[in-house]
Amino acid sequence: MPLRGGGDGSLLPLLGEEASEAAAAVPFQARLPIPRVLSDAHIEIPIREAEAQIFPGRKTKLWTYGGSFPGPTIRRPAGQRTKVTFHHELPASAGELSVHLHGGHNRSRFDGQPGGLTKSQPLSYFCRIPRGLSSRESGNDLLISPGGRKTYAYDLVEDGRPERAAFQWYHDHRLDRTAPHSWRGLAGMWIVDDEFDASLPLPSGKRDIPLMIADRTFDRRNQLTDPFSGQQPPADGIAGRRILVNGAYMPHHEVDARRYRLRILNVSQFRSYNLHLSNGASMVQIGSDSGLMPKPIRRQQILIGPGERVEVIVDFAAAMGETVELRSGRHGGRNPAGARSYVGALMQFRVCLGRPPDRTRIPRRLRPLPTWAAEAKRRAGRKPDHSWEISVGGFFRTTWLINGRTFNPARAEAFPVLGTTETWEFVNRTSVAHVMHIHHNDWYLLSRDGKPPPPWEDCLKETFFVFPGERILIAGHFVDHPGKFVVHCHMFDHEDHGLMSQFEVVKR
Ligand code: C2O
Ligand code: CU
Repeated sequence: MPLRGGGDGSLLPLLGEEASEAAAAVPFQARLPIPRVLSDAHIEIPIREAEAQIFPGRKTKLWTYGGSFPGPTIRRPAGQRTKVTFHHELPASAGELSVHLHGGHNRSRFDGQPGGLTKSQPLSYFCRIPRGLSSRESGNDLLISPGGRKTYAYDLVEDGRPERAAFQWYHDHRLDRTAPHSWRGLAGMWIVDDEFDASLPLPSGKRDIPLMIADRTFDRRNQLTDPFSGQQPPADGIAGRRILVNGAYMPHHEVDARRYRLRILNVSQFRSYNLHLSNGASMVQIGSDSGLMPKPIRRQQILIGPGERVEVIVDFAAAMGETVELRSGRHGGRNPAGARSYVGALMQFRVCLGRPPDRTRIPRRLRPLPTWAAEAKRRAGRKPDHSWEISVGGFFRTTWLINGRTFNPARAEAFPVLGTTETWEFVNRTSVAHVMHIHHNDWYLLSRDGKPPPPWEDCLKETFFVFPGERILIAGHFVDHPGKFVVHCHMFDHEDHGLMSQFEVVKR
């Protein structure tokens, strides 16, 4: 069965639905937008329709956090309680919303639960959800209704201490509709800072740039297409034809001939990117999903799947007066559906003449693994406490399955105990690669098919590729908050089509 839009990773041919302005747009013309930064202890964000000038001519209608795509970047010091009130000002037809802070460690009721069936969403095509669940059982009491609002409280604390600094993001998480909601623009970045990270001699200020990569398809009126109907597993991966970085079509950015810290996030529905620089320079990876890694790693290319983040240091010193493209290409490893990376340029850096002094450097050691992870590493051979098996099934309508089931908000599959470290395995019994994301915790990858992790996965993460036929083993430590949290594939269509489950952290 051909994967729609899965393609071979190359630029898909421009079909009839796209013409005029979007097709005429010139790469590297737009300036890279840097989303505005909000850093107050209490932030108000309206969720509303807005228009953006992405291509020449007609503006594009979007659903936004705060009027822009990406939404404002929220930047807060670790350990300081942060409240964000989201006001649902989209048309009533949008139904309920839910906001998830991806990478956060928060109370279950502020985690952005998907919820269940409601008046505006009376049935689910892909998930078997029992009828008559109370609003508490289904999590509907945690959703934001049209015209309503909800205040999420984020403590930025983990295990009694300020959380580790990390590059996170927030996005919609509503049952069955996460894919279309995010496609329309509901995503924003979030940076947690801490003293340790700030004490390192790394580039900062305007030389610390967050980059949100998204792919989208537009019609001849410059409007986002609606590719979501008629999608069915296992051929339900949507790939957009146009690359947006921070909401702009293949933009450019002027940089000095010195070091930069790039925080790169892939918010695409399905596409992965195998990042490299056009001048052959290497990137030094210093961070992953969960902040700084134990040590920096020099890399020529970096594969990044939906939901994943990498932080890299790029030194433009040798490229003075030149242009350098951030590109994506094929990767040398396995290229199954789901992991065929985009081929082409994403954006361009224009390196200015002159070389201002650069006092930054990359320390040899960054942040050590926490003790629980180091300990789990020593006991890597242990039997997993829980296994999550991904398959595809069904007869008239196929769905993605975890342990033979689709998502049911009232049911948890695993019950880890507060204060303990567990080992979980994910097994992919499908022919499509998936990117599994576990809410609430950071995890340490113990092995892939029994082999120890490559250096760039020898760190804390919460979003992991699982290739067809592969088995990964990860360890996580449960602290602070009892309650339910979801685990799912971060390919949004897969998540909406059954590839989501739940665990409940319980008190001993
Ligand atoms: Cu960014 Cu549940 O996901
Ligand atoms: Cu998937």
